[in-house]
Amino acid sequence: MKAVLFYKYGPPEVLQFKEVEKPVPKAKEILLKIKAAAVTMGDCEMRRPEITSLTWFLARLYFGLRKPRIKTLGSYFAGEIESVGSEVKSFNVGDVLFGISPTFGAHAEFVCLSDAYALTKLPSNMSFEEAAPVGLGLDSLHFLKKAKIKKGEHVLINGAGGGIGTYAVQLAKHFGAKVTAVDSKNKLEMLRSIGADMVIDYKEGDFTKKGMTYDIVFDVVGSLSHKRSLRLLNNKGRYISAIPLITRLLPNLWVSLTSNKKMMTGLTNPHIEDLDFLKNLIEDRQLKTILDSTFDLQDVADAHRYLEQGLKQGNVVISLK
Ligand SMILES: NC(=O)c1ccc[n+]([C@@H]2O[C@H](COP(=O)([O-])OP(=O)(O)OC[C@H]3O[C@@H](n4cnc5c(N)ncnc54)[C@H](OP(=O)(O)O)[C@@H]3O)[C@@H](O)[C@H]2O)c1
Repeated sequence: MKAVLFYKYGPPEVLQFKEVEKPVPKAKEILLKIKAAAVTMGDCEMRRPEITSLTWFLARLYFGLRKPRIKTLGSYFAGEIESVGSEVKSFNVGDVLFGISPTFGAHAEFVCLSDAYALTKLPSNMSFEEAAPVGLGLDSLHFLKKAKIKKGEHVLINGAGGGIGTYAVQLAKHFGAKVTAVDSKNKLEMLRSIGADMVIDYKEGDFTKKGMTYDIVFDVVGSLSHKRSLRLLNNKGRYISAIPLITRLLPNLWVSLTSNKKMMTGLTNPHIEDLDFLKNLIEDRQLKTILDSTFDLQDVADAHRYLEQGLKQGNVVISLK
């Protein structure tokens, strides 16, 4: 089978399109024929050589300190089951699924996945390309639920125009919140079109100094310093970041202990029930994928280059028809 592998950290050129042996599923695994997979900022970060924080250093101990242990990237995908292991009960050959692989591997023609991963049937009204990135919506849902989003609250989403953010805007609206979306100028019109009530271009001055406060600040990109995020919170406000910086743990704890405000971060933990919840929202036409562009599997390096230009709106996928 064809797959994209990397053997050292570096620029997009380290990604190699190669012929490799087709994997064979173990007893509790399925073999999925990938039809589409998202190429995300997370994939680019995994590929890059820089260790930018203590958190990233600890992550590298897991991913491989000097060279990658996981050689094929891609966590969010849609595809069709080619075969199943002897102990798999919940899936059958021919099932058409989408979901998340915490062990990556989806930038390939086939991937073996544990039957315990968050996987579910493709929404009836989505193409493989639209369904592949929906797992990023699971990340959005995790953080909004952790922040205990409630109807009528005002939520600011920082980095709203990308993979996680475009689902977060729609989910916050679904939960009855008012949404202010922050991103670059070229994404603001799209953000309005998916429900953002107010939009802010983060490159136009420091919006945290405008005096506005929010019930929830969801910092998808982690670009708001402790001081700037605190300034955005109203009494009982909650700040949550998708970037789990260890250096923020103590200041966050201090705020939570000494005020009515809460500051949190963490890692997502995908659950199949949440994926089914998103599938139902999609089928009820309350959630959609913003698809920017599609690449071929052999062009994954080009997709990484494109992502790193910061131009994409929503999601980029590879398509394997
Ligand atoms: N904690 C977890 O479990 C978890 C899970 C999944 C992902 N993540 C992390 O979440 C992060 C975001 O992922 P993603 O897929 O949504 O990335 P993405 O698709 O690149 O979206 C990020 C968006 O933020 C914008 N942006 C960049 N700098 C900004 C700033 N200073 N202020 C406001 N907006 C800014 C980008 O636009 P421009 O480039 O045009 O500026 C882009 O539209 C990644 O670092 C990823 O590793 C964490």
